[in-house]
Amino acid sequence: MSKNIDWGNLGFSYMPTDYRYVSRYKDGKWDEGGLEKDATITLSECACVFQYSQSCFEGLKAYYTKDGHIVCFRPDLNGERMENSAERLEMPPFPKERFVEAVRQVVAANKEYVPPYGSGATLYIRPFMIGTNSVIGVKPADEFEFRIFVTPVGPYFKGGAKPISIKVSDFDRAAPHGTGDIKAGLNYAMSLHAIQVAHREGFSENMYLDPQTRTKVEETGGANFMFITKDGTFVTPKSGSILPSITRRSLMYVAEHYLGMKVEHREVYFDEVKDFAECGLCGTAAVISPVGHIYDHGSDIYFPSGMDTMGPWTQKLYDTLTGIQMGRIEAPEGWVVTIE
Ligand code: PLP
Ligand code: COI
Repeated sequence: MSKNIDWGNLGFSYMPTDYRYVSRYKDGKWDEGGLEKDATITLSECACVFQYSQSCFEGLKAYYTKDGHIVCFRPDLNGERMENSAERLEMPPFPKERFVEAVRQVVAANKEYVPPYGSGATLYIRPFMIGTNSVIGVKPADEFEFRIFVTPVGPYFKGGAKPISIKVSDFDRAAPHGTGDIKAGLNYAMSLHAIQVAHREGFSENMYLDPQTRTKVEETGGANFMFITKDGTFVTPKSGSILPSITRRSLMYVAEHYLGMKVEHREVYFDEVKDFAECGLCGTAAVISPVGHIYDHGSDIYFPSGMDTMGPWTQKLYDTLTGIQMGRIEAPEGWVVTIE
């Protein structure tokens, strides 16, 4: 039985559910972990996560397929990326195999919160890890919690599939240590001011340029970019300081192998952007959100696809990706993992 939730009108916000997965690290090892009911964490005021932001997180989704199974999309890649984030932050990696199993347990335990097929909503899964013991000198914690909570969500941007307006940001997204390639709390804290500035000015997101030269396209606060050229080539920025998006990596494969498109993964100069035919943001939360307009310090770029609908290639990519995720189109081996 599903919970009595107005699935069609969910935004992207937090709703506590019945169970979360918790594993604790102490004396050099992770405990066996399991499901807990309490959504509250009680910690010392001096816990490393509060003082030095020792935290990292992931994001993935579960949903019902057409034939009634609950599935997840490529959770092994989230597990692998979280291992990398943890290593970079001097936290003990939570093994990716255990990560996938923990996702399975927490989704199954909260299955009444998985939105029905076709509702447009999904169950967002948020694994995270924090340094929990008290640390006052600048050094890593030696006790940690790995947790996963889930929450049903609707579209990330208001208006669903309607093209959005974004602006070229005056700020750099990542901390000045080039840490954009890990999914860590501090990276996102560095973008909170820029997000508020963009929203106050009426934009949905920021386009961050490379901090060194401010000439190359990086990503937005919560998604990678994809562009389509006038002759139908899929172009996506290559940079060591953006998050290696699982959605973007999947789309590169879908573009080439399902849609027969030419795919270019390369540095993209902001000067080229005005010549693209279509632009979109891709990520777990964003899925593919079309961009219709980019504002850059007094000048505007409007993509030919307009402000009403997605461009034709973006639509094909969206239909194919979501078709694979929801079981309407056959997935490459291992992409869709059945929970139950
Ligand atoms: N870039 C940033 C900054 C993000 O927060 C996300 C979301 O996770 C992405 C890109 C997209 O990554 P993925 O497709 O793995 O969700
Ligand atoms: C995700 O897509 O999972 C993210 O972490 C993006 C975040 C802005 C919600």
